[in-house]
Amino acid sequence: MAIEKVGVAGCGLMGSGIAQVAAQAGCSVVVREVSSDVLEKGLRSIEKNLAKMVEKGKLSPAEREQTLSRLRGTTKLEDFAERDLVIEAIVEQLQAKKELYIALDKICGTKTIFASNTSSISITEMAAATKRPGRFLGMHFFNPVPVMQLVELVRTIATEAAVFDEIIAFGRRLGKTPVSTSDRPGFIVNRLLVPYLLEAIRAVEEKIASIEDVDQSMKLGCGYPMGPLTLLDFVGLDTTYYIANVMYDEFKELRFAPPPLLKRMVISGWNGRKAGRGFYDYSDPQNPKPVEL
Ligand code: 3HC
Repeated sequence: MAIEKVGVAGCGLMGSGIAQVAAQAGCSVVVREVSSDVLEKGLRSIEKNLAKMVEKGKLSPAEREQTLSRLRGTTKLEDFAERDLVIEAIVEQLQAKKELYIALDKICGTKTIFASNTSSISITEMAAATKRPGRFLGMHFFNPVPVMQLVELVRTIATEAAVFDEIIAFGRRLGKTPVSTSDRPGFIVNRLLVPYLLEAIRAVEEKIASIEDVDQSMKLGCGYPMGPLTLLDFVGLDTTYYIANVMYDEFKELRFAPPPLLKRMVISGWNGRKAGRGFYDYSDPQNPKPVEL
């Protein structure tokens, strides 16, 4: 069965990106948010992204129109009833996700596949809340979704092989390169990335170097597109703190333990670019300035 009808739960940063790439790949997409305000904001960001692609000559005006015609926003979960696949990209809270899956399990047909875009919550635990653990897996995209090439596909001990194969083919159809991983916190990328980001915070905390010099070192010395502290601001300090805590809880290894400075910045609301302040001050977004710590 080819996946043609896709539902995306959540139209925030990740959900809107996922809905966009699925519609661009030719799928019929329904994207759902809890309120029409948040939904409108997400849909507008997709329109803006597509308009930019047309400006750059990467998409024709006709392709943009076709993409938008395949995309529909809703606030009703019931609109997912006929979907072949539902990708969930809502808030990173186990309870909220479980409640959503319990509701979806009743609404969707038995053939519908459920995929979570979680970066750290156990896929097995969410799957166990449904009657379809065999048709449940992780599909972890990277920010910004339309740009980043990778999708991590997370298989639990219960995921059926045929379902996993379908999702590999679907990931390729979206223009992504899929990698397969088992259900452990952090999967592949965050298992490697999070200790690196935390170590960059410790380097600043221990006054080994300035924020700018830590960032310059990894950009110019290793060819990374962003330094680690800029990347932390981009991903969100609250998000990184959450992921690090989940990993530390599971593995009890110090490399995943959030440094005190990260905790204090999150408590202060210095969550990065979206908050206007993290390791940099974004009062002038074109010219971020390192903060005094
Ligand atoms: N949405 C859509 N397109 C975007 C975008 C966005 N938010 N931001 C940038 N782009 C596009 C630009 O339009 C541009 O397109 P073009 O090549 O067609 O002109 C292209 O990306 C490059 O952008 P810029 O020239 O403006 O800037 P950069 O060359 O610095 O690239 C970047 C921006 C792609 C974000 C690059 O800095 C990068 O790759 N950074 C690292 C991002 C990263 O590591 N992401 C993963 C985070 S971890 C994660 O998501 C997992 C989670 O679980 C925490």
